[in-house]
Amino acid sequence: MLSRTPLAYLASNIISLIGVALVTTSGILWLLTLPAFWRGEAGTPYIGILLFLILPGVFILGLILIPLGIALHTWRRRKAGDRGPFIPRGGELRKLAIFVVLTTMANLVMGSQFTYRAVTYMDTDAFCGQSCHKVMDPEYTAYRHSPHARVACTDCHIGPGASFFVKSKLSGAGQVFAVLFNSYPRPIPSPVEALRPARETCEQCHWPQRFSGQKFFVHTEYAADEPNSGSTTVALMKIGGRNFSGTVGIHGAHVDAKAFMQYIATDQHRQVIPQVTYTDANGKVTVYNSTDVKVTPEELARGEHRNMDCMDCHNRPTHIFQLPERALDLAMTQGSISPALPFIKKQAVAALKRDYPDQAAAAKEISAALENFYRTSYPQVFARQAADLKNAIGAVQSIYQQNVFPEMKITWGTYPNNLGHTDFPGCFRCHDGNHSSADGRTISNDCATCHDLLAVSEKNPKILTELGMDPAPQASTGGAKEK
Ligand code: HEC
Ligand code: HEC
Ligand code: HEC
Ligand code: HEC
Ligand code: HEC
Repeated sequence: MLSRTPLAYLASNIISLIGVALVTTSGILWLLTLPAFWRGEAGTPYIGILLFLILPGVFILGLILIPLGIALHTWRRRKAGDRGPFIPRGGELRKLAIFVVLTTMANLVMGSQFTYRAVTYMDTDAFCGQSCHKVMDPEYTAYRHSPHARVACTDCHIGPGASFFVKSKLSGAGQVFAVLFNSYPRPIPSPVEALRPARETCEQCHWPQRFSGQKFFVHTEYAADEPNSGSTTVALMKIGGRNFSGTVGIHGAHVDAKAFMQYIATDQHRQVIPQVTYTDANGKVTVYNSTDVKVTPEELARGEHRNMDCMDCHNRPTHIFQLPERALDLAMTQGSISPALPFIKKQAVAALKRDYPDQAAAAKEISAALENFYRTSYPQVFARQAADLKNAIGAVQSIYQQNVFPEMKITWGTYPNNLGHTDFPGCFRCHDGNHSSADGRTISNDCATCHDLLAVSEKNPKILTELGMDPAPQASTGGAKEK
């Protein structure tokens, strides 16, 4: 037998040859894209998938094929009566050994880089939020406009340590199949049952001992009348925590390190809560039962038993979907929609609440409806406040695009927000005055428990003038009175 080079030996069967080709090609491609690998990022999620997931896959497949080919080839020769030698001898063996050692070292370097990058890439916001574009579009869009836009998805959804990391990769594999076979639920269900307890996620950045004091709350709303009359609510939210006298306020009662609250919810969205068990900082246990919601002991046993944490109030810290009235109030307060456009609040709410087949159709029809209204009902406004109208249309279109996703069956109010009580049951799931204990105590629904209301829907709250703050922007004279 002639002396062969190691490559010729490896290439003596077609399977190993394919393996060698795959390893070399992906290795060379890896070298070419090394700068992107070092940065660990790619321009678009699709290039990212190619670079950080498919390329390593091809590389590893190649590595598996080489010995597999040799083994199959040897087995076939043996079966055909060939007595070998199957493994090269002498100088040929030495060359092969050196070749294998060198390439193994190179492969270890490349392989570790490949897997490291693949795993970290799967934790980037681009992969989580954009790869399965349509599926995650609603959550990703809301996230990008939220206070947590710079916090990684994985900081809340996976957190530190190995156990949840492995769990998330396993459930992630299932989700990839759901996307491939188009079998994922629409909308994606919430609450996320397997979400990690807040202690290990939120509290990495916000720890309960830090809470104290009160928060000044100012909210302006605009009426559905011609001048879009504004009125303002001012309150001090009793954030609380601890002070010299012990636990105080909202966070003091709910997330003090020594207190503990467990509740039972009987519906999927945790909106119906017939029973709450509270263990206060001194270890005293009180069970509150709803006198409103009638449940049998079996229904109670079957309900979801949950330890209350940050996410039971802050269930939308980043995927904040607004309601149309609220979103418009905010846009009008911030000035992207001018309150000087007569009836703009009413018209915009009507345009937003209509059913549209998709976001593109919505954008077109919102624009047409608003233009049409001012052209026919307020021709002077249409002519003189053209710039205001154009801005308003843009703002109304983006409110729709950030909150309604027909393809994912997400519309106004699909995901209830538990922080508050005016739009959804929220705090009043328990603080409704109808949850009482055997010893006659009730979970408080006294308004001053949670906030000091300094002004409720007032036109020009005195408190704001006293503090030297501007009242809400109102429609000045101008267009509102003209026809
Ligand atoms: C600040 C923490 C935080 C960040 C950052 C975050 N999420 Fe969430 N996410 C949550 C919470 C809390 C929920 C709702 C949990 C519940 O009610 O059980 C949630 C729910 C979801 C849901 C379920 C559907 C829904 O709207 O309730 C999806 C899907 C989701 N997140 C994807 C993402 C993606 C993708 C990113 C990154 C682009 C991300 N999340 C970033 C906290 C976060
Ligand atoms: C990686 C750090 C980090 C994690 C994890 C995190 N947050 Fe935050 N959070 C921040 C930062 C930074 C801000 C301030 C953003 C700003 O002021 O714009 C913030 C702001 C907030 C606010 C105030 C929002 C507002 O409207 O001003 C709330 C409430 C909040 N976080 C709750 C949560 C909850 C609940 C979780 C867990 C689901 C969580 N955070 C997880 C960093 C984090
Ligand atoms: C019982 C419900 C409830 C629970 C539980 C709760 N919060 Fe809050 N939190 C509130 C309310 C209400 C506010 C005030 C909201 C507002 O008006 O801005 C608030 C405000 C905050 C703020 C903003 C504080 C500021 O001064 O601006 C942060 C940050 C925050 N919470 C984080 C957390 C974290 C982290 C946890 C879990 C350890 C948690 N909260 C648990 C109800 C709750
Ligand atoms: C799962 C039920 C539940 C929900 C939801 C809930 N609470 Fe509570 N809350 C309780 C219980 C139970 C107590 C303690 C009553 C006691 O002292 O025995 C309490 C106590 C409080 C206290 C202290 C009351 C006092 O008398 O000092 C405040 C403040 C408070 N909650 C605010 C809120 C706010 C704000 C929300 C909504 C963002 C909220 N809670 C949502 C069950 C709940
Ligand atoms: C268990 C705590 C709690 C109780 C009791 C409570 N509230 Fe509230 N309230 C809240 C929270 C939390 C918010 C929302 C703050 C936010 O949107 O960030 C709120 C918001 C409001 C707002 C502002 C709505 C807006 O956005 O303009 C009004 C008005 C209000 N509450 C009135 C009342 C009145 C009146 C009572 C008594 C019947 C009452 N609340 C009892 C917790 C409470």
